Amino acid sequence: MTGNQSGEPHVPANHLASAPLPADTVGLLEGLNTTRAIRRYHDEPVPAEVLRAILFAATRAPTGSNRQQFRFITLTDGPKAHAAKELIAGAARDLWKRKQDNDGYQTGSGLVENSPKARMAAAMQDYVDHFDRVPALVLPCLIRYREPSSFEGSSVYPACQNILLAARALGYGGVLTGFQAFVESELRSLLDIPDNVFVAATITLGRPVGHHGPVRRRPIGELVYGEGWGEVPTWAVDPPGTSHTAAGPKNPKPTY
Ligand SMILES: Cc1cc2nc3c(=O)[nH]c(=O)nc-3n(C[C@H](O)[C@H](O)[C@H](O)COP(=O)(O)O)c2cc1C
Repeated sequence: MTGNQSGEPHVPANHLASAPLPADTVGLLEGLNTTRAIRRYHDEPVPAEVLRAILFAATRAPTGSNRQQFRFITLTDGPKAHAAKELIAGAARDLWKRKQDNDGYQTGSGLVENSPKARMAAAMQDYVDHFDRVPALVLPCLIRYREPSSFEGSSVYPACQNILLAARALGYGGVLTGFQAFVESELRSLLDIPDNVFVAATITLGRPVGHHGPVRRRPIGELVYGEGWGEVPTWAVDPPGTSHTAAGPKNPKPTY
């Protein structure tokens, strides 16, 4: 996309301007509760009308004072898209190698066939092996208008979740990662990203091999407090049929 003389991005006219959004395949609450991190994709492009719907949802997300300083670089199959995918794929493979060692993926339950850890490791290996072929790659960005702070992400990460949920609504799926940070300067040069722009994440999207499903999370009563820290409200009980909980790592060690 090139800028015009006023510096505004040029938006080409096309047939989608008169096309409504595609219909949801899942209700909002069910989608919220069952959207998994999808790392395996069919080898087929994400159609333009689907990308339009997903990115429209992203751009409807809230931002502080409604400044809308977020921007979404959406890469599919152009030469720069291929170069960006290859760059990030290299970083992803290095990181996964380190994470496997640090988090003991090849010890304990990681060696037990079909254990959650072994399945996670297989999905991760497949993900990084095929990363350079992901159907679509979104780099959500934030144009900084003040000094970097730990709060600034709150004006871009709600949009990231909208992307994942909109994908889910349309029969697609994705996952958010931080891979871009390890090749950030290369990505900046490749994609002409200005210095005052925070590149917040890497989101890959595609049509899932497999399916979404119940997410494995701790019970609500361990995570939600009422009248002060540690006080569990009486209503904080998991709904029936949602026993797919998981403790998560006991002593999470930063991998990167
Ligand atoms: C801040 C953040 C960073 C993440 N980084 C990675 C990552 O580097 N690689 C990856 O494969 N998944 C990454 N994920 C996805 C999580 O691993 C995933 O959402 C989590 O394991 C739950 O999986 P589920 O939604 O399928 O239950 C990240 C998610 C978040 C929110």
